[in-house]
Amino acid sequence: MTRRKLIAGNWKMNGLTGHLDEVRAISEGSRDGAIDIDILLCPPATLIRPISDMLSEGGHVQVGGQNCHKAEKGAHTGEVSAEMLRDAGATHVILGHSERRADHGEGNDTVRDKLAAAHRAGLVAVVCIGETLAQREAGETLTVLGDQLAGSLHDDVSPSDTVIAYEPVWAIGTGKTASPDDVAEVHKHLRQRLGERFGEERGQGFRLLYGGSVQPGNAAALMAVADVDGALVGGASLKAQDFLAICEAARNCR
Ligand code: PGA
Repeated sequence: MTRRKLIAGNWKMNGLTGHLDEVRAISEGSRDGAIDIDILLCPPATLIRPISDMLSEGGHVQVGGQNCHKAEKGAHTGEVSAEMLRDAGATHVILGHSERRADHGEGNDTVRDKLAAAHRAGLVAVVCIGETLAQREAGETLTVLGDQLAGSLHDDVSPSDTVIAYEPVWAIGTGKTASPDDVAEVHKHLRQRLGERFGEERGQGFRLLYGGSVQPGNAAALMAVADVDGALVGGASLKAQDFLAICEAARNCR
Protein backbone atom coordinates (compact mmCIF):
# COMPACT_ATOMS: atom_id res chain seq x y z
CA MET A 1 0.00 0.00 0.00
CA THR A 2 1.48 3.36 -0.96
CA ARG A 3 0.54 6.27 1.20
CA ARG A 4 1.25 9.75 -0.10
CA LYS A 5 3.52 11.66 2.23
CA LEU A 6 2.16 14.72 4.03
CA ILE A 7 4.28 17.53 5.41
CA ALA A 8 2.24 19.71 7.73
CA GLY A 9 3.41 22.97 9.31
CA ASN A 10 2.08 23.98 12.71
CA TRP A 11 2.71 27.66 13.26
CA LYS A 12 1.23 27.58 16.77
CA MET A 13 0.66 31.12 18.10
CA ASN A 14 3.07 32.69 15.63
CA GLY A 15 2.46 34.77 12.54
CA LEU A 16 1.14 38.21 11.62
CA THR A 17 0.12 39.40 8.19
CA GLY A 18 3.78 40.29 7.58
CA HIS A 19 4.45 36.55 7.60
CA LEU A 20 2.47 35.99 4.41
CA ASP A 21 5.64 36.42 2.37
CA GLU A 22 6.85 33.10 3.81
CA VAL A 23 3.65 31.45 2.63
CA ARG A 24 4.12 32.86 -0.84
CA ALA A 25 7.68 31.53 -0.86
CA ILE A 26 6.50 28.08 0.30
CA SER A 27 3.77 28.01 -2.32
CA GLU A 28 6.11 29.04 -5.12
CA GLY A 29 8.99 26.88 -3.93
CA SER A 30 6.84 23.75 -3.76
CA ARG A 31 5.09 24.16 -7.06
CA ASP A 32 7.07 21.54 -8.96
CA GLY A 33 7.54 18.95 -6.26
CA ALA A 34 4.23 19.24 -4.48
CA ILE A 35 2.46 17.02 -6.96
CA ASP A 36 4.33 14.12 -5.32
CA ILE A 37 3.48 14.92 -1.71
CA ASP A 38 0.79 16.81 0.19
CA ILE A 39 1.71 20.06 1.93
CA LEU A 40 -0.35 21.69 4.65
CA LEU A 41 0.12 24.90 6.62
CA CYS A 42 -1.75 25.45 9.88
CA PRO A 43 -1.39 29.13 10.82
CA PRO A 44 -3.24 30.88 13.64
CA ALA A 45 -6.98 31.21 12.87
CA THR A 46 -6.56 34.91 12.04
CA LEU A 47 -4.45 34.05 8.99
CA ILE A 48 -6.50 31.21 7.52
CA ARG A 49 -8.59 33.42 5.23
CA PRO A 50 -5.72 35.51 3.79
CA ILE A 51 -3.61 32.40 3.30
CA SER A 52 -6.38 30.41 1.65
CA ASP A 53 -7.06 33.36 -0.67
CA MET A 54 -3.39 33.52 -1.56
CA LEU A 55 -3.11 29.76 -2.10
CA SER A 56 -6.19 29.58 -4.28
CA GLU A 57 -4.26 31.58 -6.86
CA GLY A 58 -2.33 28.39 -7.67
CA GLY A 59 -0.05 25.78 -6.17
CA HIS A 60 -0.76 22.72 -4.10
CA VAL A 61 -0.44 23.90 -0.52
CA GLN A 62 -3.48 23.46 1.72
CA VAL A 63 -4.39 25.36 4.86
CA GLY A 64 -5.73 24.18 8.19
CA GLY A 65 -6.64 25.25 11.72
CA GLN A 66 -4.94 24.19 14.95
CA ASN A 67 -8.02 23.45 17.03
CA CYS A 68 -11.82 23.63 16.90
CA HIS A 69 -14.76 23.51 19.29
CA LYS A 70 -17.05 20.50 19.25
CA ALA A 71 -20.19 22.60 18.67
CA GLU A 72 -21.14 24.17 15.39
CA LYS A 73 -21.98 27.53 16.97
CA GLY A 74 -23.27 29.04 20.19
CA ALA A 75 -22.38 30.79 23.42
CA HIS A 76 -18.69 29.81 23.64
CA THR A 77 -16.78 33.06 23.81
CA GLY A 78 -13.37 32.93 22.18
CA GLU A 79 -13.90 29.59 20.47
CA VAL A 80 -13.84 28.70 16.77
CA SER A 81 -15.96 25.94 15.24
CA ALA A 82 -14.93 23.50 12.56
CA GLU A 83 -17.56 25.05 10.29
CA MET A 84 -15.93 28.47 10.77
CA LEU A 85 -12.52 27.08 9.87
CA ARG A 86 -14.02 25.55 6.77
CA ASP A 87 -15.77 28.80 5.93
CA ALA A 88 -12.43 30.63 6.20
CA GLY A 89 -10.90 28.26 3.64
CA ALA A 90 -9.41 25.51 5.81
CA THR A 91 -9.42 21.92 4.62
CA HIS A 92 -7.74 20.43 7.72
CA VAL A 93 -7.52 20.89 11.47
CA ILE A 94 -4.95 19.73 14.03
CA LEU A 95 -6.58 18.16 17.10
CA GLY A 96 -5.26 16.96 20.44
CA HIS A 97 -1.87 18.63 20.17
CA SER A 98 0.06 18.04 23.40
CA GLU A 99 0.10 21.80 24.07
CA ARG A 100 -3.71 21.75 24.05
CA ARG A 101 -3.82 18.58 26.08
CA ALA A 102 -1.50 20.21 28.66
CA ASP A 103 -2.61 23.87 28.57
CA HIS A 104 -6.35 23.28 28.19
CA GLY A 105 -6.80 19.92 29.86
CA GLU A 106 -8.00 18.26 26.67
CA GLY A 107 -8.37 14.53 27.18
CA ASN A 108 -9.09 11.80 24.69
CA ASP A 109 -12.87 12.21 25.02
CA THR A 110 -12.63 15.89 24.14
CA VAL A 111 -10.39 15.13 21.20
CA ARG A 112 -12.85 12.50 19.96
CA ASP A 113 -15.75 14.99 20.16
CA LYS A 114 -13.72 17.55 18.25
CA LEU A 115 -12.84 14.92 15.68
CA ALA A 116 -16.53 14.27 15.07
CA ALA A 117 -17.02 18.04 14.70
CA ALA A 118 -14.19 18.27 12.18
CA HIS A 119 -15.71 15.47 10.12
CA ARG A 120 -19.18 17.00 10.38
CA ALA A 121 -17.71 20.13 8.78
CA GLY A 122 -15.85 18.17 6.10
CA LEU A 123 -12.37 18.80 7.48
CA VAL A 124 -9.53 16.30 7.51
CA ALA A 125 -8.20 16.01 11.07
CA VAL A 126 -4.59 15.55 12.14
CA VAL A 127 -4.93 13.84 15.53
CA CYS A 128 -1.86 14.16 17.76
CA ILE A 129 -0.71 11.69 20.39
CA GLY A 130 2.53 11.52 22.34
CA GLU A 131 4.15 10.36 25.56
CA THR A 132 5.91 12.52 28.13
CA LEU A 133 9.50 11.94 29.14
CA ALA A 134 8.39 10.48 32.48
CA GLN A 135 6.13 8.01 30.67
CA ARG A 136 8.92 7.01 28.30
CA GLU A 137 11.38 6.53 31.15
CA ALA A 138 8.82 4.42 33.00
CA GLY A 139 8.54 2.14 29.95
CA GLU A 140 4.92 3.17 29.35
CA THR A 141 5.29 4.65 25.87
CA LEU A 142 3.39 2.05 23.84
CA THR A 143 0.63 1.69 26.43
CA VAL A 144 0.09 5.44 26.68
CA LEU A 145 0.06 5.86 22.92
CA GLY A 146 -2.26 2.89 22.44
CA ASP A 147 -4.70 4.41 24.94
CA GLN A 148 -4.53 7.85 23.33
CA LEU A 149 -5.04 6.36 19.88
CA ALA A 150 -8.00 4.26 20.99
CA GLY A 151 -9.64 7.05 22.97
CA SER A 152 -9.13 9.88 20.49
CA LEU A 153 -10.66 8.15 17.46
CA HIS A 154 -14.31 7.33 16.88
CA ASP A 155 -15.34 4.19 15.02
CA ASP A 156 -16.13 5.82 11.69
CA VAL A 157 -12.73 7.38 10.96
CA SER A 158 -11.19 6.65 7.60
CA PRO A 159 -7.79 7.30 6.04
CA SER A 160 -9.31 10.02 3.88
CA ASP A 161 -10.56 12.08 6.83
CA THR A 162 -8.04 11.33 9.59
CA VAL A 163 -4.26 11.48 9.89
CA ILE A 164 -2.37 10.46 13.04
CA ALA A 165 0.66 12.41 14.26
CA TYR A 166 3.01 10.82 16.77
CA GLU A 167 4.69 13.64 18.68
CA PRO A 168 6.72 12.68 21.75
CA VAL A 169 6.08 15.57 24.15
CA TRP A 170 9.75 15.71 25.17
CA ALA A 171 10.79 16.23 21.53
CA ILE A 172 8.52 19.20 20.82
CA GLY A 173 10.40 22.47 20.53
CA THR A 174 13.39 21.02 22.40
CA GLY A 175 15.75 20.20 19.54
CA LYS A 176 15.65 16.55 20.67
CA THR A 177 14.18 14.02 18.27
CA ALA A 178 13.22 10.44 18.84
CA SER A 179 15.75 8.13 17.20
CA PRO A 180 14.68 6.48 13.94
CA ASP A 181 14.59 3.14 15.84
CA ASP A 182 12.25 4.54 18.49
CA VAL A 183 10.02 6.08 15.83
CA ALA A 184 9.98 2.80 13.91
CA GLU A 185 8.92 0.88 17.03
CA VAL A 186 6.10 3.32 17.79
CA HIS A 187 4.79 3.59 14.24
CA LYS A 188 4.80 -0.18 13.84
CA HIS A 189 2.79 -0.47 17.04
CA LEU A 190 0.32 2.21 15.95
CA ARG A 191 -0.13 0.55 12.56
CA GLN A 192 -0.84 -2.74 14.30
CA ARG A 193 -3.39 -1.16 16.64
CA LEU A 194 -5.14 0.53 13.72
CA GLY A 195 -5.33 -2.79 11.88
CA GLU A 196 -6.75 -4.56 14.93
CA ARG A 197 -9.47 -1.97 15.39
CA PHE A 198 -10.39 -1.03 11.84
CA GLY A 199 -9.36 -4.08 9.86
CA GLU A 200 -6.17 -4.63 7.90
CA GLU A 201 -7.14 -2.70 4.78
CA ARG A 202 -8.41 0.44 6.51
CA GLY A 203 -5.60 0.29 9.06
CA GLN A 204 -2.97 0.27 6.35
CA GLY A 205 -4.44 3.39 4.75
CA PHE A 206 -3.98 5.86 7.63
CA ARG A 207 -1.06 8.21 7.34
CA LEU A 208 1.19 8.30 10.41
CA LEU A 209 3.23 11.48 10.78
CA TYR A 210 6.17 12.03 13.11
CA GLY A 211 6.53 15.38 14.87
CA GLY A 212 8.98 16.86 17.35
CA SER A 213 11.98 18.98 16.33
CA VAL A 214 11.88 17.92 12.69
CA GLN A 215 14.52 20.00 10.89
CA PRO A 216 16.11 20.04 7.44
CA GLY A 217 19.08 18.15 8.92
CA ASN A 218 17.14 15.19 10.35
CA ALA A 219 14.13 15.02 8.02
CA ALA A 220 15.60 12.56 5.52
CA ALA A 221 16.46 10.00 8.22
CA LEU A 222 13.04 10.29 9.85
CA MET A 223 11.10 10.19 6.58
CA ALA A 224 12.93 7.01 5.56
CA VAL A 225 11.60 5.09 8.59
CA ALA A 226 9.03 2.41 7.75
CA ASP A 227 5.47 3.56 8.42
CA VAL A 228 6.43 7.24 8.65
CA ASP A 229 4.20 8.96 6.13
CA GLY A 230 5.28 12.54 6.71
CA ALA A 231 5.93 15.09 9.41
CA LEU A 232 4.21 17.62 11.60
CA VAL A 233 6.66 20.50 11.79
CA GLY A 234 6.55 23.33 14.33
CA GLY A 235 9.44 25.78 14.52
CA ALA A 236 10.97 24.87 11.17
CA SER A 237 7.67 25.53 9.36
CA LEU A 238 7.96 29.26 10.06
CA LYS A 239 10.83 29.68 7.61
CA ALA A 240 10.08 28.88 3.99
CA GLN A 241 13.61 27.70 3.30
CA ASP A 242 13.61 25.16 6.14
CA PHE A 243 10.08 23.97 5.48
CA LEU A 244 10.81 23.50 1.78
CA ALA A 245 13.95 21.52 2.61
CA ILE A 246 11.85 19.17 4.76
CA CYS A 247 9.30 18.83 1.93
CA GLU A 248 12.15 17.97 -0.40
CA ALA A 249 13.44 15.29 1.97
CA ALA A 250 9.96 13.73 2.04
CA ARG A 251 9.70 13.89 -1.71
CA ASN A 252 13.01 12.14 -2.16
CA CYS A 253 12.01 9.13 -0.10
CA ARG A 254 8.54 8.56 -1.42
P1 PGA B 1 8.57 21.48 16.78
O1 PGA B 1 6.97 21.37 17.04
O2 PGA B 1 8.81 21.03 15.38
O3 PGA B 1 8.87 22.95 16.99
O4 PGA B 1 9.22 20.60 17.77
C1 PGA B 1 6.25 20.28 16.54
C2 PGA B 1 4.82 20.39 16.96
O5 PGA B 1 4.54 20.77 18.10
O6 PGA B 1 3.90 20.08 16.17
